[in-house]
Amino acid sequence: MDDKMKNVFLKKQNTQKILIHPEYLSESYIPPKLLFREREVEEIAGHSADFLFSSIVKNIVIHGPPGVGKTVAVRMLEKTYNEIATEQGITSRAVYVSAKDLTYRRTLYELAQRLGLNVNLGMSIADIYGLIVNHMTLTDSTYLLIIDEIDKLRKRPGEDPVDNLVYSLSRINERAGRIAVSVYLVTNNARVVERLSAPSFSSLAPIFIYFRAYNADELYEILRDRVEKAFIPGAVEDAALKLLAALIKRESRDLRWGFLVLREAATVAKAGKITEDSIWRAAEIVERNVLRQIIGGLDVDGLLLLLALALLNLEGHSRVDSSSLYIKYRDLCDSIGWNPRTMKHTINYIGAKLESEGLITRRPVSRGRYGRTHLFHLEEDASTVKNIVVEVLAERFNIHISDKCE
Ligand SMILES: Nc1ncnc2c1ncn2[C@@H]1O[C@H](COP(=O)(O)OP(=O)(O)OP(=O)(O)O)[C@@H](O)[C@H]1O
Ligand SMILES: [Mg+2]
Repeated sequence: MDDKMKNVFLKKQNTQKILIHPEYLSESYIPPKLLFREREVEEIAGHSADFLFSSIVKNIVIHGPPGVGKTVAVRMLEKTYNEIATEQGITSRAVYVSAKDLTYRRTLYELAQRLGLNVNLGMSIADIYGLIVNHMTLTDSTYLLIIDEIDKLRKRPGEDPVDNLVYSLSRINERAGRIAVSVYLVTNNARVVERLSAPSFSSLAPIFIYFRAYNADELYEILRDRVEKAFIPGAVEDAALKLLAALIKRESRDLRWGFLVLREAATVAKAGKITEDSIWRAAEIVERNVLRQIIGGLDVDGLLLLLALALLNLEGHSRVDSSSLYIKYRDLCDSIGWNPRTMKHTINYIGAKLESEGLITRRPVSRGRYGRTHLFHLEEDASTVKNIVVEVLAERFNIHISDKCE
């Protein structure tokens, strides 16, 4: 058997021996309890109970950094709310929609669908909203509308999707002439709500609930709880888990990243044990996969510009000015017979794209009477970047970079 193939088999065998319940480390798993969130969960539950039992409308904005349990908290709320409403015979329902990558119209559409309304994708915003308001006017029921990830709404030209969505949802009660809905919004960034136009903000009148980041000890406890469910006893050394918690904190990652590292660690574990060394190695693999995903999404010019910077770095230049970078990029283009973009386009647009992906940083510097230039800095390890770019160019574009131009 070929060595690579054999390795795949051994890796799988390795994993299955110690990681017996990988589902506990997956994104879709909703834990029965959120650790270190008693106060926040109690506050959310209190407000929603006021709405359920007494129709007291309280609109809520839940905000905080990535991976701190916001989505889990509202999904748990949805479930509990609906269970209690059914038990008590109250006609009220919690409805959850994630707005991630949806337009304003599409979010309204998804919401209408979950409310059981007869909508179709060809309908206009006004039509969908009209149906929702009409339903709220006629029904006796009340609804807790939970919209997750409102800061990830897709923007259409000339539209502020968050403002439009908040304005329309928070005015449903007024339009329906009765208390029908309470609106719960979830976002990474409270600023999207603070920035709302005055009419939207005042009709929402939100209560803010903040989910703070966990400290390393709390991360450790949460990880340990998952590890106990997912792995056979004793498979993960305590020091390894402490290291992982510290890495999440130090590298500004989140629990999701921690779970990925644990899954990967199961494949590199030696003798059925996850040690500190396994964590280091697994973290490196996960990082490389993330980097590969980002680089894999670039087009040829982006890849060549990034490669140019990586090569200059490897030659010992840690900060590179615009013209040196452009010359290197153009040389690479020449070597593969690719038509280079203009300097202006390359530096301004392609450079900005690489910067927005977090791959590089650019700093404008003045060269006195010679005008201004940019200094480019690669944010990732140059040889890793070089290898991945060369791989992606070959696999996706059938472009082969010869050693000579490196
Ligand atoms: N307190 C906690 N106890 C147990 N698990 C937790 C806790 N907080 C977060 N998690 C786990 O961490 C992962 C990320 O949580 P979640 O998806 O709720 O993050 P989020 O705050 O919604 O992040 P984002 O802003 O990126 O959407 C989930 O797998 C979740 O189960
Ligand atoms: Mg979330």
